[in-house]
Amino acid sequence: MTRQLLEVSQLHRAFGGLVAVSELSFHVTDGEVVSIIGPNGAGKTTAFNLITGVYPPTGGSIHFRGSQVSGMALHKVTDLGIGRTFQNLRIFPNLTVRDNVLVGMTRKNKASMLTACLRLPAFGREEARLNAEADRLIDLLELRQVESQLARNLPYGNQRRVEIARALASDPALLLLDEPAAGMNPAEIEELNNLIRRLRDEFGKTILIVEHHMSLVMEISDRIIVMDQGRKIAEGTPSEVRESPLVVRAYLGAGMV
Ligand SMILES: Nc1ncnc2c1ncn2[C@@H]1O[C@H](COP(=O)(O)OP(=O)(O)O)[C@@H](O)[C@H]1O
Ligand SMILES: [Mg+2]
Repeated sequence: MTRQLLEVSQLHRAFGGLVAVSELSFHVTDGEVVSIIGPNGAGKTTAFNLITGVYPPTGGSIHFRGSQVSGMALHKVTDLGIGRTFQNLRIFPNLTVRDNVLVGMTRKNKASMLTACLRLPAFGREEARLNAEADRLIDLLELRQVESQLARNLPYGNQRRVEIARALASDPALLLLDEPAAGMNPAEIEELNNLIRRLRDEFGKTILIVEHHMSLVMEISDRIIVMDQGRKIAEGTPSEVRESPLVVRAYLGAGMV
């Protein structure tokens, strides 16, 4: 059996009496784009929060590159190579676009903090390297025109791109995107489509994405996982999922089609 990049097994999370995620098992293979879809309240964001250690599961396990990560703190999960964005944007509104990206790199740069404080010669080299890396991400996300602006002054679609750049700054192998197209106009969604493909094909990223825009999901996904009421109700290629009666029922029930 090939070892999966991410292996989620029998994951469970209750909040008081409410079971948000139940017996959830799925895997993500290196190099895949996998989408999780499902009506509001299905447990998609909770699954992301469990994977990234926002809170621990009440049952089940999560393995990343074969190591158990369930219950690990967010910063440790980030260090291991999982990056994420949040459904309700988390950026620093009063920092510039460029500084938001640089902040995302600081943990990776932890070992050189002492060098920086003492302003040793290596500090200049490290600073140059970080700036070059920030430039690369700013260009990739097409944020060059606005790099000196405060993040809070940008339109929503651009703020989402800043958050993706920030998430990429820790150089994750696995990138989790929670509704990245929310609030984007059709042109921005098309750019996001291209970006996700480039991240996989040129940068070797593996991507797990929660998204409601079905045309985007159908175009970018190698595989789709469908959740409803905390459980996985279907899984397959875009065409398999589109034809699944269970999926149609879950979405019709939620008034989404
Ligand atoms: N921190 C929390 N405390 C209590 N209930 C929560 C919490 N997070 C999520 N829930 C509940 O868990 C269920 C799943 O939520 P969520 O994972 O956000 O769904 P989705 O992202 O699929 O819309 C919902 O009923 C939600 O109200
Ligand atoms: Mg959600």
